[in-house]
Amino acid sequence: MKVLNFGSLNLDYIYSVDTFLRPGETKSAEGRQTFLGGKGFNQSVALARAGVPVFHAGNAGERESAAAFREALLQAGADVTFLQDGAEVCGHAIIQVDKNGQNCILIFHGANYHISQDDVNRVLDHFAAGDMVVLQNEINATAYIIEEAHRRGMQIAFNPSPYDETIRRLPLEKLSWLILNEVEVQDLSGQECVEGYVRWFRENFPQLRVVVTLGSRGALYIDSQQALRHPSYQVQIVDTTAAGDVFTGFFLAGQAMGRPVEESMQLASKAAGISVSRKGSAASAPTLQEVLETELKVLEQ
Ligand code: RIB
Repeated sequence: MKVLNFGSLNLDYIYSVDTFLRPGETKSAEGRQTFLGGKGFNQSVALARAGVPVFHAGNAGERESAAAFREALLQAGADVTFLQDGAEVCGHAIIQVDKNGQNCILIFHGANYHISQDDVNRVLDHFAAGDMVVLQNEINATAYIIEEAHRRGMQIAFNPSPYDETIRRLPLEKLSWLILNEVEVQDLSGQECVEGYVRWFRENFPQLRVVVTLGSRGALYIDSQQALRHPSYQVQIVDTTAAGDVFTGFFLAGQAMGRPVEESMQLASKAAGISVSRKGSAASAPTLQEVLETELKVLEQ
């Protein structure tokens, strides 16, 4: 099975602040660091570091930014044959990280929203039935890719982040995996508890394998046969940016490699735990080797 990630690439400007800005407030940041990011890029790096030689497709904009992303993807072990550049400015994100390591993110789509149906077709022509395509909600062509990948018999994994009103209108019945956080699952399903999520997905999307990340409460896996929980791990929280992307990349890598669900959840939870103990976006993603060698204690509830 080949794995394709059709996803965003953003330059992340991460500002350290004591507390997030309030409306009308102006204040100085304690520091700024620039990282390569974007949910798509972060997930490709995580997939590659987890041992899956993912193909990353997307639009990185002007030549200079595209070269930096190309280099970083190659270094992580990803394939960049389908990475586009162009005249548009690269996407970027303004990220505040507060003293507790929590973040808030403002994104500007830039080149991520310059992907045509021809671009999509040209990439998908290199993949076949049974291959996996990974998507997030930060490029303009998501709906078309879902339709077209499904028509070609590909398996589709979707992380509906950032969540907005367009998600409900997507053909979710054509997906194989859905990976989302608790706020997103509540917005999508209208349910407010684990039993409610399980019931709602089984009634509405019985074909889906769903993972709901629950922060310090771990993660929940749901399919038509089973629902299981995996705890999170005790770590010193430094920066939560991209933790969800690292989880998604490692979980899907496990699935692509045919690992059992429990093992995929365990590796993903540990990798996400390691990533929050470090600064940065994709830069915080560990390798599979590090995940296997790092001992972490389960966070008791
Ligand atoms: O999930 C973290 C990512 O969200 C950042 O890298 C930023 O670019 C935004 O896409």
